[in-house]
Amino acid sequence: MSISHLELSSVQHASTFEVVVATQDARLLDEAKQLAQLLGKQNHPTTFIVYFGHGGVEIRRSNRADKKGYKVDFNKIDRRTGAGNLSRKQLFPKAVGNESKTVLDITAGLGADSAMLALMGYTVHAIERSPIISVLLRDGLHRANVNPELRNALGGRLTLDEADSRAIMQNTEGVDVVYMDPMFPPKRKKSALPQGSIQMLQAVVGYDEDIQTKELFDLAMKTAIKRVVVKRPNYAPFFKENPTVVHRGKLVRYEVYGAQK
Ligand SMILES: C[S@@+](CC[C@H](N)C(=O)[O-])C[C@H]1O[C@@H](n2cnc3c(N)ncnc32)[C@H](O)[C@@H]1O
Repeated sequence: MSISHLELSSVQHASTFEVVVATQDARLLDEAKQLAQLLGKQNHPTTFIVYFGHGGVEIRRSNRADKKGYKVDFNKIDRRTGAGNLSRKQLFPKAVGNESKTVLDITAGLGADSAMLALMGYTVHAIERSPIISVLLRDGLHRANVNPELRNALGGRLTLDEADSRAIMQNTEGVDVVYMDPMFPPKRKKSALPQGSIQMLQAVVGYDEDIQTKELFDLAMKTAIKRVVVKRPNYAPFFKENPTVVHRGKLVRYEVYGAQK
């Protein structure tokens, strides 16, 4: 079933979408209806299908014959502790800080970073402004909480909000760390990029404009009690001169900026 579109969305997406529903699940039907209304009338042919099915919500490229889609699946995160993926010795938790407890992720995207931090024991509130990505995120968290083992591992430490983080930060107090991972243009040409979740995300939300990213950073510096952490690809220039510390990996680095208060 395809739903007709009524209103225009307030968030500009980089592509066009069709909402397709193949489930009777009331939670998903409600989400699909709201999303279709928010997206409004789309140009045809559409580039993506937001597919509401028995296994949850996934996003598919309209031109893919195999109908392979992408959905948020926190169960795929490698949950090895000790010296494994969830070790606090990894670069990411080092940047966030061992003494930090609460993290506001102001660019949640597909939630992988937020979920990692929650699985490591941080209490994370993740904000995403795109209604499409937010639907995927909420569905992913719902399915995670239906899985007893994963729900236990997350420990209720991951919460989500669909909003513009600039508005959220105006009313946020008492958060140790603000984390941001703005979309930065790729180094290589689009056609040379491998297909993956980040490429899908780029196609859906586009790149984050410099002006709003700077606004996010300035507000983050006023909101965080301890520090602001910015994730950047290694080929990108530093977000600001003189970060307090830089934790550099093979492809990305975490720039840490000391809080202003
Ligand atoms: C590169 S992605 C983040 C990927 C994420 N770290 C992950 O693990 O999947 C950046 C995301 O930030 C979101 N974003 C950009 N500006 C925002 C804002 N002002 N408020 C909320 N979300 C925002 C974009 O829609 C996009 O989904």
